[in-house]
Amino acid sequence: MTDLAAAGHYPVMLVEAIEGLAIKADGTYIDATYGRGGHSQAILSQLGPDGRLLAFDRDVEAVADARQRLAGDPRFEIVHSAFGNVQEVVSQQGLLRRVDGLLCDLGVSSPQIDNAERGFSFRSDGPLDMRMDQSQGQSAAQWLQVAEESEISQVLHELGEERYSRRIARAIVAQREESPLMTTTQLRELIIQASPRQERHKDPATRSFQALRIQVNDELGEVKRLLEHALSVLAPAGRLVVISFHSLEDRIVKRFMRKYSRQVDSFPSDIPFAAPAVPNQLKLIGKACSASQCELAENPRSRSAMLRIAERCPC
Ligand SMILES: C[S@@+](CC[C@H](N)C(=O)[O-])C[C@H]1O[C@@H](n2cnc3c(N)ncnc32)[C@H](O)[C@@H]1O
Repeated sequence: MTDLAAAGHYPVMLVEAIEGLAIKADGTYIDATYGRGGHSQAILSQLGPDGRLLAFDRDVEAVADARQRLAGDPRFEIVHSAFGNVQEVVSQQGLLRRVDGLLCDLGVSSPQIDNAERGFSFRSDGPLDMRMDQSQGQSAAQWLQVAEESEISQVLHELGEERYSRRIARAIVAQREESPLMTTTQLRELIIQASPRQERHKDPATRSFQALRIQVNDELGEVKRLLEHALSVLAPAGRLVVISFHSLEDRIVKRFMRKYSRQVDSFPSDIPFAAPAVPNQLKLIGKACSASQCELAENPRSRSAMLRIAERCPC
């Protein structure tokens, strides 16, 4: 067990992610999702005095943690920003095409899920918020108050694969005409009542809560923006390492890496949109992998993690 795990914090697929970055002691790295700094601290432990680590997190509490935990380290800097802005931030710092590795450990952190006040979990009663960045945007409660019934249904169906999406959306709209949905418990109970059958070993609220969280934080849009900019941020031979936690994210990462790693002559001529603007920009490193049995035993939250690595072309 690592020191971090002993303290109750488990950075997911830590060894695999750090190996994937192929860290150079004097290199420049980005941790796009600081969280509680598990991966950041492992990167810093491999950097020499001339190395540099720029971290992002859109959560104010994560940023405060970084400032407190790593404030004294001149090699480290944290930015309170969504990682979709990576190109802008990196450009302001004069680091375009100079980043040797970019790590992104997607999703929510344990402190976010475990704090009932954040509203991410249906297991504890709290305000229906779900924003990673509480300083801006609409909370889940606000969104559910104004969204069209068809939009709610579509989000539950597409982002949560919820089979009762229409029934649940109808129940939400009927409820809000009486009084707004304000808490996680209210929403969970409404979902249970609107679901005629329930899956074994799965809380009926699981899918809808996932869908709402993805919607409220525009999680898929963020991943797309990060990947779009990765090629202009990474130095030649720089590494891109992404850990995703559900198939919707992983599909985006997989397609991006495949698209930019194809050989020019391997493009099917009948699917012109499949071709990237500039081919051969990435090389896939190894196969996608999931957490080891040993890690799963120690940290069950790693069960759905999927890690993918690519390297920017050396030119
Ligand atoms: C799974 S945790 C990262 C855990 C971290 N690797 C560690 O070892 O402590 C994900 C973190 O990324 C942040 N995050 C998620 N999406 C983000 C985005 N689009 N921009 C910036 N931060 C984001 C969340 O606020 C959360 O703190």
